[in-house]
Amino acid sequence: MSITPLMPVYPRCDVRPVRGEGCYLIGDRGERYLDFASGIAVNLLGHGHPRLVKTIADQAATLMHTSNLYGMPMGEDFAQRLVDNSFADTVFFTNSGAEAVECAIKTARRYHYANGAAHRHKIISFDNAFHGRTLGTISATSQPKMRDGFEPLLPGFQVVPFNDLDAALAAVDDHTAGFLLEPVQGEGGVTPATAAFLTGLRKACDDHGLLLILDEVQCGYARTGTFFAHEQYGVTPDIMAVAKGIGAGFPLGACLATEEAAKGMVFGTHGSTYGGNPLAMAVGLTVLDEVLADGFLDHVKAMGARLRAALEQLIPNHDDMFEDVRGMGLMLGVRMSDAYDARAFVAHLRDHHGLLAVSAGQNVLRILPPLVIDESHIAEAIEKISAGARSFAEAKAA
Ligand SMILES: Cc1ncc(COP(=O)(O)O)c(C=O)c1O
Repeated sequence: MSITPLMPVYPRCDVRPVRGEGCYLIGDRGERYLDFASGIAVNLLGHGHPRLVKTIADQAATLMHTSNLYGMPMGEDFAQRLVDNSFADTVFFTNSGAEAVECAIKTARRYHYANGAAHRHKIISFDNAFHGRTLGTISATSQPKMRDGFEPLLPGFQVVPFNDLDAALAAVDDHTAGFLLEPVQGEGGVTPATAAFLTGLRKACDDHGLLLILDEVQCGYARTGTFFAHEQYGVTPDIMAVAKGIGAGFPLGACLATEEAAKGMVFGTHGSTYGGNPLAMAVGLTVLDEVLADGFLDHVKAMGARLRAALEQLIPNHDDMFEDVRGMGLMLGVRMSDAYDARAFVAHLRDHHGLLAVSAGQNVLRILPPLVIDESHIAEAIEKISAGARSFAEAKAA
C-alpha cells in the first residue's frame, strides 16, 4: 500500500511544528520560526495565549459539548455580543469557514423562497474567489483546480470578474439571489474590492431586492484593522460568513444575518451537531473580549501601517523581484514579478531564514502575522525578507 494514512491531499512541506510560543513556532528538530502565516490568518492572538489557554482548560473541565437539543447560555451571550458589534441581528455558529459560507448561501436561497420567489436562487460570485472546499462552496468558484473531477456541482452560480461592476450588474437576471464576495480576496491574491465595486454591488442589491453576502472568513475579525473589513467601505452586508480568527485556532465559524435576510431560516431548516458547543462558545467569548478590548484594533492599524511601509521600502532595493504591496491592515501581500515564483520564495524564507509566510494567487507573497505582533517582530520579519530576497536572487543567478 502506498497511500499515506493522512489522505495525501496537501503538498506538505518539511516543517513539522510541535510547539508555539507567542509569534513563534518551534519545529520537531527544535528549530524556531517567526510565524507570519498564523495558520493562514487564524491565530490572531499568537500561540499559547495565556487567557485563551485557561479558557479552554477551564471550559473543558466544566462542560464541553451538549448538542443543540438544549438551551445554550454561552451561545446566546456570544451571539448577542456579535449582534451588538455588527450589522447583524442573528447568528448561526459553525465549525469552519466553508460551513459558514454554506449557511450564508442557504440563508440567501431561503430568503427568496420565503418571499415566494424560489426561482431567485442564482448567486453571482467572482473570479479568484475562495469560499471553501464543500461541493456548495466550490460551485461558487471558477478555479479548475478546485472543481475538476467533482462535477456535477451545484447549479445556480455564475462567476464574473472581480472588481468589474458592469460585469456583475450585467449578470443579474430574474433568477439572481445576490452577490457573494470576499471584501479582500485572500487566496486569490490579497486583492481588496474597490470602493466603487462594493458600494455599487450594495446599491444594486437595494435597487433589485438582492442580497449582499460577504465572506469575511479570512479578512474579518480585526485582520484588516476594523472588526470587519466591510466597515472600511461604509457598506453593510445582509449576510456574512466569518471563521478563522473568530476562534483564534479553535475550529469555529459563524454566519451572521439581518433579521430580514434570515426570515426563511426557521425551525428545522439548518443545523450542526457541534456548531456553537460550550467549548467553542467559551473560546469565542474570550477571543472577542481580546479583539474588542480598548486599543486592540488601533494596534492592528498601527502595526499594519508600519509593516506596509517597511515592505514598500524594500521594493526599490529589489525592484526586479517585488512589484507592489497590497492588502489592508495585517492582511498584506507583496506581488512578485514574473521572473520570480512566490511559492518558491515562501519556501526559501521558511527553509533558509526561519520566516513563515504563505503564497497566494497572482504570484503574491502573503503576510498574515498574529495581530499581537509588536515592532520587534516587524523589524525581524523585514530583516528576514530583505536577506531572503538577496539570497533568493543570488541562488537564481547562480
Ligand atoms: C475567504 C475564505 N472563505 C472560506 C474559507 C474556507 O474556510 P475553511 O477552510 O475553514 O472551511 C477560507 C479558507 O481559507 C477563506 O479564506
